[in-house]
Amino acid sequence: MTSPALHGPMAAIAALPQADLKTIFTTEPDRLSSLVLNQGPLRFDWSKTHLTGDLIDAFLTLAQEQGFAAQRDALFAGEAVNNTEGRAAEHPAERGEGKADSVARAKALHARMRALIDAIEAGALGEIRHILHIGIGGSALGPDLIIDALDGDGIRYDVAIVSNVDGTALERAMDSFDPAYTLIAIASKTFTTTETMLNAASAINWMVEAGVEDPYGRVIALTASPDKAIEWGVDETRILPFSESVGGRYSLWSSIGFPAALSLGWDAFESLLEGAAAMDRHFRLSDPRENAPLIAAFADQYYARVMGCQTRALFAYDERLKLLPSYLQQLEMESNGKSVTRDGQPVDGPTAPITWGGVGTDAQHAVFQLLHQGTIIAPVEFIASIEPGHTLDPAHHRALLVNCFAQGAALMRGKENADDPARAYPGGRPSTTILMEDVTPEALGALIAFYEHRTFANAVLMGINPFDQFGVELGKEIAKSIEADGPSGFDPSTMALIDLALGAE
Ligand code: F6P
Repeated sequence: MTSPALHGPMAAIAALPQADLKTIFTTEPDRLSSLVLNQGPLRFDWSKTHLTGDLIDAFLTLAQEQGFAAQRDALFAGEAVNNTEGRAAEHPAERGEGKADSVARAKALHARMRALIDAIEAGALGEIRHILHIGIGGSALGPDLIIDALDGDGIRYDVAIVSNVDGTALERAMDSFDPAYTLIAIASKTFTTTETMLNAASAINWMVEAGVEDPYGRVIALTASPDKAIEWGVDETRILPFSESVGGRYSLWSSIGFPAALSLGWDAFESLLEGAAAMDRHFRLSDPRENAPLIAAFADQYYARVMGCQTRALFAYDERLKLLPSYLQQLEMESNGKSVTRDGQPVDGPTAPITWGGVGTDAQHAVFQLLHQGTIIAPVEFIASIEPGHTLDPAHHRALLVNCFAQGAALMRGKENADDPARAYPGGRPSTTILMEDVTPEALGALIAFYEHRTFANAVLMGINPFDQFGVELGKEIAKSIEADGPSGFDPSTMALIDLALGAE
Protein backbone atom coordinates (compact mmCIF):
# COMPACT_ATOMS: atom_id res chain seq x y z
CA MET A 1 0.00 0.00 0.00
CA THR A 2 1.36 3.43 -0.90
CA SER A 3 1.15 6.23 1.61
CA PRO A 4 0.90 9.78 0.32
CA ALA A 5 3.59 12.24 1.48
CA LEU A 6 2.51 13.52 4.88
CA HIS A 7 3.76 16.22 7.18
CA GLY A 8 3.54 17.11 10.88
CA PRO A 9 1.20 15.12 13.11
CA MET A 10 -0.11 13.07 10.18
CA ALA A 11 3.43 11.91 9.46
CA ALA A 12 3.72 10.83 13.10
CA ILE A 13 0.45 8.91 12.77
CA ALA A 14 1.67 7.25 9.56
CA ALA A 15 4.89 6.23 11.34
CA LEU A 16 3.01 4.15 13.91
CA PRO A 17 3.12 0.41 13.27
CA GLN A 18 0.22 -0.78 11.15
CA ALA A 19 -1.99 -3.38 12.76
CA ASP A 20 -2.46 -6.76 11.12
CA LEU A 21 -6.22 -7.10 10.95
CA LYS A 22 -6.08 -10.86 10.58
CA THR A 23 -4.55 -11.28 14.03
CA ILE A 24 -5.74 -8.13 15.72
CA PHE A 25 -8.26 -9.81 18.01
CA THR A 26 -5.46 -12.03 19.33
CA THR A 27 -3.08 -9.15 19.99
CA GLU A 28 -5.87 -6.84 21.26
CA PRO A 29 -8.52 -9.11 22.77
CA ASP A 30 -10.50 -6.26 24.35
CA ARG A 31 -11.21 -4.46 21.08
CA LEU A 32 -14.94 -4.95 21.49
CA SER A 33 -14.98 -2.90 24.64
CA SER A 34 -12.71 -0.17 23.29
CA LEU A 35 -14.00 0.10 19.72
CA VAL A 36 -17.71 -0.52 20.00
CA LEU A 37 -19.89 2.38 20.96
CA ASN A 38 -23.61 2.39 21.70
CA GLN A 39 -25.22 5.73 21.08
CA GLY A 40 -29.02 5.83 21.38
CA PRO A 41 -30.52 3.56 18.72
CA LEU A 42 -27.17 3.06 16.95
CA ARG A 43 -24.28 0.71 17.64
CA PHE A 44 -20.96 1.53 16.00
CA ASP A 45 -18.33 -1.19 15.64
CA TRP A 46 -14.84 -0.12 14.54
CA SER A 47 -13.16 -3.23 15.89
CA LYS A 48 -12.52 -4.57 12.36
CA THR A 49 -10.64 -1.42 11.32
CA HIS A 50 -6.96 -0.58 11.77
CA LEU A 51 -7.71 1.76 14.66
CA THR A 52 -5.68 0.90 17.76
CA GLY A 53 -5.30 2.56 21.13
CA ASP A 54 -2.05 4.19 19.99
CA LEU A 55 -3.61 5.47 16.80
CA ILE A 56 -6.55 6.96 18.64
CA ASP A 57 -4.17 8.69 21.04
CA ALA A 58 -2.24 10.12 18.10
CA PHE A 59 -5.41 11.28 16.36
CA LEU A 60 -6.59 12.89 19.58
CA THR A 61 -3.37 14.89 19.56
CA LEU A 62 -4.01 15.87 15.95
CA ALA A 63 -7.58 16.91 16.85
CA GLN A 64 -6.23 19.08 19.63
CA GLU A 65 -3.64 20.67 17.35
CA GLN A 66 -6.30 21.36 14.75
CA GLY A 67 -8.45 23.13 17.36
CA PHE A 68 -11.24 20.57 17.07
CA ALA A 69 -13.08 21.50 20.30
CA ALA A 70 -13.02 25.23 19.50
CA GLN A 71 -14.24 24.69 15.95
CA ARG A 72 -17.02 22.39 17.09
CA ASP A 73 -18.08 25.03 19.64
CA ALA A 74 -17.97 27.65 16.88
CA LEU A 75 -20.26 25.47 14.74
CA PHE A 76 -22.86 25.18 17.49
CA ALA A 77 -22.45 28.84 18.49
CA GLY A 78 -23.50 29.95 15.00
CA GLU A 79 -20.14 31.54 14.20
CA ALA A 80 -19.06 32.00 10.58
CA VAL A 81 -17.41 28.57 10.25
CA ASN A 82 -17.96 28.78 6.50
CA ASN A 83 -15.12 31.29 6.26
CA THR A 84 -14.94 31.59 2.46
CA GLU A 85 -18.56 32.72 2.32
CA GLY A 86 -18.60 34.45 5.72
CA ARG A 87 -21.54 32.36 6.90
CA ALA A 88 -22.53 30.15 9.81
CA ALA A 89 -23.60 26.53 9.23
CA GLU A 90 -26.71 26.28 11.35
CA HIS A 91 -28.27 22.94 10.50
CA PRO A 92 -28.10 21.90 14.19
CA ALA A 93 -30.30 24.89 15.07
CA GLU A 94 -33.04 23.29 12.92
CA ARG A 95 -32.97 20.43 15.43
CA GLY A 96 -33.05 22.76 18.41
CA GLU A 97 -29.29 22.71 19.10
CA GLY A 98 -27.39 25.94 18.58
CA LYS A 99 -27.50 29.68 19.15
CA ALA A 100 -30.67 30.67 21.00
CA ASP A 101 -31.99 33.15 18.42
CA SER A 102 -31.26 30.78 15.52
CA VAL A 103 -33.08 27.97 17.34
CA ALA A 104 -36.02 30.30 18.00
CA ARG A 105 -36.14 31.32 14.32
CA ALA A 106 -35.98 27.69 13.18
CA LYS A 107 -38.81 26.78 15.56
CA ALA A 108 -40.94 29.64 14.25
CA LEU A 109 -40.34 28.53 10.66
CA HIS A 110 -41.18 24.94 11.57
CA ALA A 111 -44.41 26.19 13.16
CA ARG A 112 -45.21 27.97 9.89
CA MET A 113 -44.55 24.75 7.97
CA ARG A 114 -46.74 22.78 10.34
CA ALA A 115 -49.58 25.32 10.03
CA LEU A 116 -49.48 25.03 6.24
CA ILE A 117 -49.47 21.23 6.48
CA ASP A 118 -52.49 21.38 8.80
CA ALA A 119 -54.25 23.69 6.36
CA ILE A 120 -53.50 21.37 3.44
CA GLU A 121 -54.81 18.43 5.41
CA ALA A 122 -57.94 20.39 6.23
CA GLY A 123 -58.49 20.84 2.48
CA ALA A 124 -57.45 24.49 2.14
CA LEU A 125 -55.82 23.76 -1.23
CA GLY A 126 -58.50 21.35 -2.44
CA GLU A 127 -58.14 17.60 -2.54
CA ILE A 128 -54.47 16.60 -2.72
CA ARG A 129 -53.44 13.07 -3.64
CA HIS A 130 -50.00 13.59 -5.14
CA ILE A 131 -46.98 15.66 -4.16
CA LEU A 132 -44.63 16.64 -6.96
CA HIS A 133 -41.45 17.82 -5.25
CA ILE A 134 -39.06 19.59 -7.61
CA GLY A 135 -35.51 20.30 -6.45
CA ILE A 136 -31.97 19.09 -7.00
CA GLY A 137 -28.89 18.21 -4.94
CA GLY A 138 -29.52 18.95 -1.28
CA SER A 139 -33.01 20.12 -2.16
CA ALA A 140 -33.93 16.61 -3.30
CA LEU A 141 -31.61 13.95 -1.88
CA GLY A 142 -32.58 14.42 1.78
CA PRO A 143 -36.37 14.33 1.37
CA ASP A 144 -36.02 11.44 -1.08
CA LEU A 145 -33.97 9.42 1.43
CA ILE A 146 -36.29 10.07 4.36
CA ILE A 147 -39.50 9.33 2.50
CA ASP A 148 -38.11 6.20 0.90
CA ALA A 149 -36.73 4.94 4.21
CA LEU A 150 -39.77 5.66 6.35
CA ASP A 151 -42.76 5.29 4.06
CA GLY A 152 -44.46 2.30 5.56
CA ASP A 153 -48.15 1.59 5.39
CA GLY A 154 -48.81 5.02 6.78
CA ILE A 155 -47.77 7.08 3.73
CA ARG A 156 -50.56 9.52 2.97
CA TYR A 157 -49.76 10.78 -0.52
CA ASP A 158 -47.98 9.60 -3.65
CA VAL A 159 -44.73 11.51 -3.71
CA ALA A 160 -42.41 12.02 -6.67
CA ILE A 161 -39.09 13.79 -6.17
CA VAL A 162 -37.96 15.14 -9.52
CA SER A 163 -34.47 16.56 -9.83
CA ASN A 164 -32.95 15.96 -13.25
CA VAL A 165 -33.34 18.56 -15.99
CA ASP A 166 -33.82 15.59 -18.34
CA GLY A 167 -37.53 15.94 -19.10
CA THR A 168 -37.93 12.18 -18.94
CA ALA A 169 -37.83 12.36 -15.15
CA LEU A 170 -40.57 14.98 -14.92
CA GLU A 171 -42.68 13.44 -17.66
CA ARG A 172 -42.68 10.06 -15.93
CA ALA A 173 -43.80 11.65 -12.67
CA MET A 174 -46.49 13.70 -14.39
CA ASP A 175 -47.74 10.64 -16.25
CA SER A 176 -48.40 8.89 -12.98
CA PHE A 177 -50.20 11.86 -11.34
CA ASP A 178 -53.53 13.55 -11.95
CA PRO A 179 -52.87 17.32 -12.28
CA ALA A 180 -56.22 18.10 -10.69
CA TYR A 181 -55.04 16.56 -7.40
CA THR A 182 -51.34 17.45 -7.45
CA LEU A 183 -49.47 19.77 -5.11
CA ILE A 184 -46.22 21.16 -6.48
CA ALA A 185 -43.41 21.87 -4.01
CA ILE A 186 -40.54 23.86 -5.53
CA ALA A 187 -37.47 23.33 -3.36
CA SER A 188 -34.48 25.54 -3.96
CA LYS A 189 -32.37 27.40 -1.47
CA THR A 190 -31.45 30.03 -4.06
CA PHE A 191 -34.60 29.78 -6.21
CA THR A 192 -32.39 30.27 -9.24
CA THR A 193 -31.14 26.74 -9.99
CA THR A 194 -31.62 26.15 -13.72
CA GLU A 195 -32.82 22.57 -13.51
CA THR A 196 -35.36 23.33 -10.80
CA MET A 197 -36.75 26.46 -12.41
CA LEU A 198 -37.15 24.73 -15.79
CA ASN A 199 -38.86 21.72 -14.23
CA ALA A 200 -41.12 23.99 -12.17
CA ALA A 201 -42.17 25.94 -15.27
CA SER A 202 -42.96 22.71 -17.14
CA ALA A 203 -44.98 21.41 -14.19
CA ILE A 204 -47.07 24.59 -14.16
CA ASN A 205 -47.63 24.27 -17.93
CA TRP A 206 -48.80 20.71 -17.39
CA MET A 207 -51.43 21.97 -14.95
CA VAL A 208 -52.46 24.82 -17.22
CA GLU A 209 -52.79 22.50 -20.21
CA ALA A 210 -54.92 20.14 -18.11
CA GLY A 211 -57.27 23.05 -17.36
CA VAL A 212 -56.52 23.17 -13.63
CA GLU A 213 -58.08 26.29 -12.22
CA ASP A 214 -55.49 28.52 -10.46
CA PRO A 215 -52.45 26.21 -10.81
CA TYR A 216 -50.26 28.64 -8.86
CA GLY A 217 -52.68 28.17 -5.98
CA ARG A 218 -51.24 24.71 -5.44
CA VAL A 219 -47.57 25.66 -5.56
CA ILE A 220 -45.49 25.73 -2.38
CA ALA A 221 -41.99 27.21 -2.32
CA LEU A 222 -39.30 25.87 0.05
CA THR A 223 -36.50 28.38 -0.06
CA ALA A 224 -34.04 30.70 1.66
CA SER A 225 -34.82 33.32 -1.02
CA PRO A 226 -38.51 34.14 -0.52
CA ASP A 227 -38.30 37.31 -2.66
CA LYS A 228 -37.27 35.28 -5.67
CA ALA A 229 -40.14 32.85 -5.07
CA ILE A 230 -42.61 35.75 -4.94
CA GLU A 231 -41.13 37.16 -8.17
CA TRP A 232 -41.59 33.73 -9.75
CA GLY A 233 -45.28 33.78 -8.88
CA VAL A 234 -45.64 31.91 -5.59
CA ASP A 235 -48.05 33.48 -3.15
CA GLU A 236 -46.34 34.70 0.03
CA THR A 237 -48.64 32.58 2.21
CA ARG A 238 -47.36 29.41 0.55
CA ILE A 239 -43.68 30.18 0.89
CA LEU A 240 -41.88 28.20 3.58
CA PRO A 241 -38.58 29.96 4.16
CA PHE A 242 -35.48 28.64 5.83
CA SER A 243 -32.35 30.36 7.00
CA GLU A 244 -29.55 31.33 4.61
CA SER A 245 -27.14 29.82 7.14
CA VAL A 246 -28.48 26.29 6.48
CA GLY A 247 -26.40 24.78 3.69
CA GLY A 248 -28.11 23.00 0.78
CA ARG A 249 -26.75 19.54 1.63
CA TYR A 250 -27.67 20.06 5.31
CA SER A 251 -31.18 21.35 4.63
CA LEU A 252 -33.49 18.35 4.98
CA TRP A 253 -34.25 19.43 8.56
CA SER A 254 -35.65 22.76 7.38
CA SER A 255 -38.66 23.43 5.14
CA ILE A 256 -36.86 21.38 2.47
CA GLY A 257 -38.20 18.43 4.50
CA PHE A 258 -41.77 19.58 3.75
CA PRO A 259 -42.78 16.62 1.52
CA ALA A 260 -41.51 14.23 4.22
CA ALA A 261 -43.39 16.07 6.98
CA LEU A 262 -46.57 16.15 4.88
CA SER A 263 -46.47 12.57 3.66
CA LEU A 264 -45.11 10.84 6.77
CA GLY A 265 -46.87 13.08 9.27
CA TRP A 266 -45.59 15.77 11.58
CA ASP A 267 -44.86 13.39 14.45
CA ALA A 268 -42.45 11.41 12.28
CA PHE A 269 -40.69 14.59 11.13
CA GLU A 270 -40.37 15.77 14.71
CA SER A 271 -38.92 12.41 15.81
CA LEU A 272 -36.39 12.69 12.99
CA LEU A 273 -35.33 16.09 14.35
CA GLU A 274 -35.17 14.72 17.89
CA GLY A 275 -32.97 11.82 16.81
CA ALA A 276 -30.61 14.26 15.11
CA ALA A 277 -30.62 16.53 18.16
CA ALA A 278 -29.57 13.61 20.38
CA MET A 279 -26.62 13.02 18.03
CA ASP A 280 -25.82 16.76 18.13
CA ARG A 281 -25.59 16.59 21.91
CA HIS A 282 -23.48 13.45 21.76
CA PHE A 283 -21.07 15.12 19.31
CA ARG A 284 -20.94 18.34 21.29
CA LEU A 285 -20.65 16.98 24.79
CA SER A 286 -19.18 13.51 24.86
CA ASP A 287 -15.60 12.64 25.68
CA PRO A 288 -13.51 12.62 22.44
CA ARG A 289 -12.61 8.97 23.06
CA GLU A 290 -16.28 8.06 22.97
CA ASN A 291 -17.39 10.48 20.33
CA ALA A 292 -18.83 8.50 17.40
CA PRO A 293 -18.43 11.09 14.60
CA LEU A 294 -14.88 11.88 15.75
CA ILE A 295 -13.76 8.24 16.00
CA ALA A 296 -15.28 7.56 12.58
CA ALA A 297 -13.33 10.53 11.20
CA PHE A 298 -10.11 9.09 12.69
CA ALA A 299 -10.67 5.90 10.72
CA ASP A 300 -11.53 7.92 7.59
CA GLN A 301 -8.34 9.95 7.92
CA TYR A 302 -6.27 6.85 8.43
CA TYR A 303 -7.58 5.16 5.31
CA ALA A 304 -7.59 8.20 3.01
CA ARG A 305 -4.41 9.91 4.11
CA VAL A 306 -2.18 7.22 5.60
CA MET A 307 -3.14 4.18 3.54
CA GLY A 308 -4.02 6.22 0.44
CA CYS A 309 -7.42 4.55 -0.07
CA GLN A 310 -9.18 6.55 -2.74
CA THR A 311 -12.66 5.25 -2.06
CA ARG A 312 -14.90 4.34 0.86
CA ALA A 313 -17.76 1.97 0.22
CA LEU A 314 -21.04 1.90 2.07
CA PHE A 315 -23.50 -0.97 1.86
CA ALA A 316 -26.92 -0.70 3.41
CA TYR A 317 -28.11 -4.18 4.30
CA ASP A 318 -31.60 -2.81 4.39
CA GLU A 319 -33.75 -1.92 1.42
CA ARG A 320 -35.16 1.05 3.35
CA LEU A 321 -31.74 2.69 3.25
CA LYS A 322 -31.04 2.14 -0.43
CA LEU A 323 -30.79 5.88 -1.09
CA LEU A 324 -28.28 6.46 1.70
CA PRO A 325 -25.16 6.02 -0.50
CA SER A 326 -26.31 8.68 -2.97
CA TYR A 327 -27.29 11.01 -0.14
CA LEU A 328 -23.85 10.57 1.43
CA GLN A 329 -22.10 11.13 -1.89
CA GLN A 330 -23.28 14.72 -1.89
CA LEU A 331 -22.74 15.22 1.84
CA GLU A 332 -19.18 13.91 1.85
CA MET A 333 -17.87 14.67 -1.63
CA GLU A 334 -19.37 18.14 -1.97
CA SER A 335 -18.25 19.02 1.55
CA ASN A 336 -14.72 17.66 1.65
CA GLY A 337 -13.75 17.31 -2.00
CA LYS A 338 -11.40 20.26 -1.66
CA SER A 339 -7.75 20.91 -2.41
CA VAL A 340 -7.03 23.99 -0.33
CA THR A 341 -7.16 24.59 3.40
CA ARG A 342 -9.32 27.19 5.15
CA ASP A 343 -6.59 29.77 4.60
CA GLY A 344 -6.15 28.95 0.92
CA GLN A 345 -3.00 26.81 1.16
CA PRO A 346 -2.75 23.56 -0.85
CA VAL A 347 -3.73 20.58 1.33
CA ASP A 348 -0.86 18.28 2.25
CA GLY A 349 -2.56 15.03 1.24
CA PRO A 350 -5.75 13.53 -0.16
CA THR A 351 -9.03 14.84 1.25
CA ALA A 352 -12.40 13.13 0.80
CA PRO A 353 -12.29 9.69 -0.76
CA ILE A 354 -14.90 8.80 -3.36
CA THR A 355 -18.01 7.68 -1.50
CA TRP A 356 -19.80 4.87 -3.25
CA GLY A 357 -21.88 1.85 -2.41
CA GLY A 358 -25.20 0.10 -2.76
CA VAL A 359 -27.46 -2.36 -0.99
CA GLY A 360 -26.72 -5.79 0.34
CA THR A 361 -27.17 -8.47 -0.64
CA ASP A 362 -27.44 -7.19 -4.24
CA ALA A 363 -23.95 -5.72 -4.16
CA GLN A 364 -22.44 -9.07 -3.18
CA HIS A 365 -23.39 -10.36 -6.60
CA ALA A 366 -22.00 -7.37 -8.44
CA VAL A 367 -19.09 -5.51 -6.86
CA PHE A 368 -17.84 -7.52 -3.91
CA GLN A 369 -15.43 -9.53 -6.05
CA LEU A 370 -13.17 -6.48 -6.23
CA LEU A 371 -13.50 -5.79 -2.53
CA HIS A 372 -12.37 -9.32 -1.65
CA GLN A 373 -9.73 -9.98 -4.28
CA GLY A 374 -9.03 -6.75 -6.16
CA THR A 375 -5.74 -4.90 -5.87
CA ILE A 376 -7.15 -1.82 -4.18
CA ILE A 377 -8.25 -1.60 -0.58
CA ALA A 378 -11.59 0.10 0.00
CA PRO A 379 -12.70 0.42 3.61
CA VAL A 380 -16.27 -0.82 3.76
CA GLU A 381 -19.10 0.37 5.97
CA PHE A 382 -22.02 -1.98 6.62
CA ILE A 383 -25.32 -0.62 7.91
CA ALA A 384 -28.03 -2.97 9.10
CA SER A 385 -31.13 -2.94 11.25
CA ILE A 386 -31.97 -5.53 13.90
CA GLU A 387 -35.67 -5.19 13.09
CA PRO A 388 -36.89 -5.93 9.56
CA GLY A 389 -38.83 -3.50 7.42
CA HIS A 390 -41.36 -6.13 6.31
CA THR A 391 -43.75 -8.73 7.63
CA LEU A 392 -42.64 -11.64 5.49
CA ASP A 393 -41.04 -14.84 6.77
CA PRO A 394 -38.30 -13.88 9.29
CA ALA A 395 -35.98 -16.06 7.20
CA HIS A 396 -35.55 -13.07 4.86
CA HIS A 397 -34.18 -10.81 7.53
CA ARG A 398 -32.07 -13.53 9.05
CA ALA A 399 -30.47 -14.24 5.66
CA LEU A 400 -29.87 -10.52 5.11
CA LEU A 401 -28.10 -10.06 8.44
CA VAL A 402 -26.16 -13.32 8.20
CA ASN A 403 -24.83 -12.19 4.82
CA CYS A 404 -23.93 -8.75 6.13
CA PHE A 405 -21.92 -10.12 9.04
CA ALA A 406 -20.35 -12.85 6.87
CA GLN A 407 -18.99 -10.25 4.44
CA GLY A 408 -17.25 -8.28 7.19
CA ALA A 409 -15.77 -11.48 8.62
CA ALA A 410 -14.61 -12.66 5.18
CA LEU A 411 -12.96 -9.33 4.33
CA MET A 412 -11.06 -9.49 7.58
CA ARG A 413 -10.20 -13.15 7.76
CA GLY A 414 -9.41 -13.94 4.11
CA LYS A 415 -8.53 -17.47 3.07
CA GLU A 416 -5.26 -18.99 1.99
CA ASN A 417 -4.99 -21.32 -0.96
CA ALA A 418 -1.41 -22.35 -1.69
CA ASP A 419 -2.47 -24.55 -4.62
CA ASP A 420 -4.62 -22.07 -6.47
CA PRO A 421 -3.92 -18.33 -6.08
CA ALA A 422 -7.10 -17.49 -8.02
CA ARG A 423 -9.06 -18.96 -5.14
CA ALA A 424 -7.10 -17.24 -2.36
CA TYR A 425 -8.41 -14.23 -0.43
CA PRO A 426 -5.81 -11.87 1.00
CA GLY A 427 -8.00 -10.79 3.94
CA GLY A 428 -6.91 -8.10 6.35
CA ARG A 429 -9.45 -5.77 4.72
CA PRO A 430 -11.18 -3.28 7.00
CA SER A 431 -14.86 -2.74 7.67
CA THR A 432 -17.07 -0.87 10.09
CA THR A 433 -20.56 -1.99 11.06
CA ILE A 434 -23.35 0.31 12.14
CA LEU A 435 -26.25 -1.58 13.61
CA MET A 436 -29.56 0.22 14.09
CA GLU A 437 -32.27 -1.04 16.42
CA ASP A 438 -34.75 -0.30 13.63
CA VAL A 439 -35.13 2.19 10.81
CA THR A 440 -37.31 4.58 12.80
CA PRO A 441 -37.49 8.36 12.26
CA GLU A 442 -35.45 8.86 15.43
CA ALA A 443 -32.72 6.40 14.42
CA LEU A 444 -32.55 7.79 10.90
CA GLY A 445 -32.24 11.34 12.22
CA ALA A 446 -29.38 10.23 14.48
CA LEU A 447 -27.69 8.36 11.63
CA ILE A 448 -27.81 11.30 9.21
CA ALA A 449 -26.60 13.74 11.89
CA PHE A 450 -23.78 11.31 12.68
CA TYR A 451 -22.66 11.50 9.04
CA GLU A 452 -22.92 15.30 9.02
CA HIS A 453 -20.72 15.62 12.10
CA ARG A 454 -18.30 13.00 10.86
CA THR A 455 -17.90 15.03 7.66
CA PHE A 456 -17.29 18.16 9.74
CA ALA A 457 -14.80 16.34 12.01
CA ASN A 458 -12.88 15.14 8.93
CA ALA A 459 -12.76 18.70 7.61
CA VAL A 460 -11.41 20.02 10.92
CA LEU A 461 -8.73 17.32 11.04
CA MET A 462 -7.62 18.36 7.54
CA GLY A 463 -8.02 22.11 8.12
CA ILE A 464 -10.49 22.58 5.26
CA ASN A 465 -13.86 24.35 4.99
CA PRO A 466 -16.59 21.74 4.39
CA PHE A 467 -19.36 24.29 3.88
CA ASP A 468 -18.61 25.88 0.50
CA GLN A 469 -18.82 24.19 -2.93
CA PHE A 470 -17.21 26.48 -5.47
CA GLY A 471 -16.16 23.46 -7.51
CA VAL A 472 -19.65 23.09 -8.95
CA GLU A 473 -19.74 26.59 -10.43
CA LEU A 474 -17.46 26.45 -13.50
CA GLY A 475 -19.51 23.88 -15.39
CA LYS A 476 -22.70 25.84 -14.63
CA GLU A 477 -21.10 29.07 -15.90
CA ILE A 478 -20.00 27.45 -19.15
CA ALA A 479 -23.46 25.91 -19.73
CA LYS A 480 -25.05 29.33 -19.13
CA SER A 481 -22.67 31.04 -21.51
CA ILE A 482 -23.45 28.50 -24.25
CA GLU A 483 -27.18 29.10 -23.72
CA ALA A 484 -26.75 32.89 -23.68
CA ASP A 485 -24.14 33.56 -26.35
CA GLY A 486 -23.93 30.35 -28.36
CA PRO A 487 -20.89 28.15 -28.54
CA SER A 488 -17.62 29.83 -29.32
CA GLY A 489 -14.04 29.62 -28.20
CA PHE A 490 -14.25 26.04 -26.91
CA ASP A 491 -11.87 23.21 -27.69
CA PRO A 492 -12.49 21.26 -30.94
CA SER A 493 -14.03 18.29 -29.11
CA THR A 494 -16.63 20.45 -27.33
CA MET A 495 -17.38 22.45 -30.49
CA ALA A 496 -17.93 19.25 -32.49
CA LEU A 497 -20.25 17.79 -29.83
CA ILE A 498 -22.33 20.97 -29.70
CA ASP A 499 -22.44 21.17 -33.48
CA LEU A 500 -23.54 17.56 -33.86
CA ALA A 501 -26.17 17.46 -31.14
CA LEU A 502 -27.42 21.05 -30.97
CA GLY A 503 -26.25 22.60 -34.24
CA ALA A 504 -29.64 22.39 -35.93
CA GLU A 505 -31.15 24.97 -33.56
O1 F6P B 1 -24.73 22.97 -7.53
C1 F6P B 1 -24.65 22.48 -6.25
C2 F6P B 1 -25.74 23.02 -5.37
O2 F6P B 1 -25.52 24.35 -5.06
C3 F6P B 1 -25.88 22.18 -4.11
O3 F6P B 1 -24.99 22.52 -3.13
C4 F6P B 1 -27.31 22.39 -3.77
O4 F6P B 1 -27.78 21.44 -2.86
C5 F6P B 1 -27.94 22.30 -5.13
O5 F6P B 1 -27.01 22.93 -5.99
C6 F6P B 1 -29.30 22.92 -5.26
O6 F6P B 1 -29.28 24.29 -4.97
P1 F6P B 1 -30.62 25.07 -4.69
O7 F6P B 1 -31.25 24.48 -3.47
O8 F6P B 1 -30.22 26.49 -4.48
O9 F6P B 1 -31.52 24.92 -5.88
